[in-house]
Parts: sequence; structure tokens; C-alpha cells
Amino acid sequence: MGKLSRKLTVFVGLALALPSAAPADEPVADTMQQRVMPCMACHAETSINLRSGFVPSLHGKPSGYLFNQLVHYQEGRRHHRMMEYMVRNMSPEYLLEIAEYFAGLDASLLDAAEPLDNAELRDRGEELVTRGDPSRDLPSCKACHGERLTGAEPNTPGLLGLPSHYVAAQMTAWRMGRREAAEPDCMKEIAQRLTPQDIYALSRWLAAQPVPANSAPEAEPLSDLPMHCGSVQTPE
Ligand code: HEC
Ligand code: HEC
Repeated sequence: MGKLSRKLTVFVGLALALPSAAPADEPVADTMQQRVMPCMACHAETSINLRSGFVPSLHGKPSGYLFNQLVHYQEGRRHHRMMEYMVRNMSPEYLLEIAEYFAGLDASLLDAAEPLDNAELRDRGEELVTRGDPSRDLPSCKACHGERLTGAEPNTPGLLGLPSHYVAAQMTAWRMGRREAAEPDCMKEIAQRLTPQDIYALSRWLAAQPVPANSAPEAEPLSDLPMHCGSVQTPE
């Protein structure tokens, strides 16, 4: 064995020995992954969310959208006891950090969990989401949520990989004035143009769609939005 390789062996041996030389009670690294552990009890990656019925996935949604929602729970524009409690004492800076963390997670892990065999519901749901209903001045959801329905930066969420009960509950909340976004609140107007039957059909259809391989939101706000939304900065 040459001198150099003997030195190397000693060096490698030392490096391996180092971690166990650290004190046993060294604190766990303070990473975002650690800090959002309590959130993951409900918002974990896969179909756990979908089966539990009312918990939305956060993975890969635009950070601006997620940030706005966290603020909305603080300000009483959205109502959910657990969520209001979770964010009650968090600073805007910290909420933004959390939003950015979840925006960076992979949404392609989410899957369509809900089969939809009823052809009538399927056709009605698909019609509303992909074409809207001009007779009621109802734009298609794709016009704002993107052709792949994966949302658009900075503030429009994707609509796939969500439980149908959750989507239906949100649309109903808007319709009844229990959820509010920045004025003019386009989602409120849209929800008010829908009947409960429409909401049921489109929620079931959305939950039955697979999340596309490219699950990222559109990188830019979409142009030519059919309505003005206070939360979307329209490009000049
Ligand atoms: C006990 C379960 C639970 C825990 C823990 C929890 N959440 Fe939630 N979260 C929910 C539910 C249920 C909703 C939907 C509530 C509603 O109807 O508005 C929600 C909604 C949200 C939304 C809105 C999502 C959207 O698509 O509009 C965000 C953002 C969010 N949670 C972030 C967090 C963060 C960050 C944490 C940890 C600090 C957390 N949640 C902890 C259950 C939970
Ligand atoms: C004119 C643009 C526009 C159209 C058209 C539109 N949306 Fe939205 N939608 C938005 C914006 C912007 C938000 C984010 C609002 C906020 O900050 O709460 C949103 C949010 C949502 C959410 C909340 C998602 C979550 O995770 O909580 C749902 C559900 C939704 N839209 C469903 C629909 C459906 C279904 C249609 C078609 C019937 C539709 N939207 C059409 C702009 C639009």
C-alpha cells in the first residue's frame, strides 16, 4: 500500500467516524420539510387526500394562490376551524415560505381516485368544464384554469387531483357567500350561474380526470380571460 492511499484510508476512516462523534442530542435540522409535518397529517401527497373527502391537495399549486388562501383563512374570507387555527399566529413572511414550499412539490403523484360511470353526469360535467354554457353567459373553466386544468401562475389553482366533495363544497361556499376572493370575485359570479346539479356534475367529472404527466401550472397568467378576477393580474 503506497503512502498516499494509506493517508486516504485514514482520512476516509475519520470522515466516517465524525457523525457518531457528534453529541447524541444534536437537534434535528430545522428544514421546511420538518416544519410542515403537522400539515402533512392531512395534506400528504397521494390519494389519502382524495379518499378522506374534503382535504384539498396543495402540491404544485401556484404559490401566489396558496399564499392568498392562507391569508384568507386569517382574514375570515374562508372558513374552516382547523385551518383558521393552523395559520392564526403565522406572519405573512412565513405564510409565503410555506406557500412556496408546497408550490415546489410534485403534483403528478396525485391521481384521479373517483370513477364516474354515469354517462349523463359525465357529459354534463365535461360540457360545463370544457365549453361552459353561452346561453347563461358561463365561460368554460379551461379559459382561466388552463387547457390542461393545471392552473396558471401566479394565482389560479389547478382543478385536478381534488376530491369531488371538496370542489362541490367550494363552489357551494362561493354561491352562498361563505368563501370570498379578491374583488371582483369572478368565482362567486360563476358559482352563482350554476345550479346545484351543475356543481355536482362538474365536481364528479373533474375528480375522475387523470392528472396529466405535465402537471405544472401555465407559467404565465392566461390572456383574454372571459371575466375580470381581482386575484389575477391581467398582462398588459
Ligand atoms: C386537520 C387537517 C388539516 C391540517 C392539520 C392542515 N390542514 Fe390545510 N386544509 C384542511 C382542510 C379540510 C382544508 C379545506 C378547508 C376548506 O374547506 O376551506 C384545508 C385547506 C388548506 C389550504 C387551501 C387549499 C386550496 O386549494 O385552496 C391551504 C393552503 C392549506 N390548507 C394549508 C395548510 C398548511 C400550510 C397546514 C400546516 C400549517 C395545514 N393546511 C394543516 C385540513 C388540514
Ligand atoms: C374568469 C376566470 C375563471 C373561470 C372562467 C373559472 N375560474 Fe375557478 N378560479 C379562478 C381564480 C382566479 C381562482 C382563485 C380564487 C381565489 O384566490 O380563491 C379560482 C379558484 C377556483 C377553485 C378553488 C380551488 C381550490 O383548490 O380551492 C375552484 C374549485 C374553481 N375555481 C372551479 C372552477 C370551475 C368548476 C370553473 C368552471 C365552471 C371555473 N372555476 C371557472 C378563475 C376562474
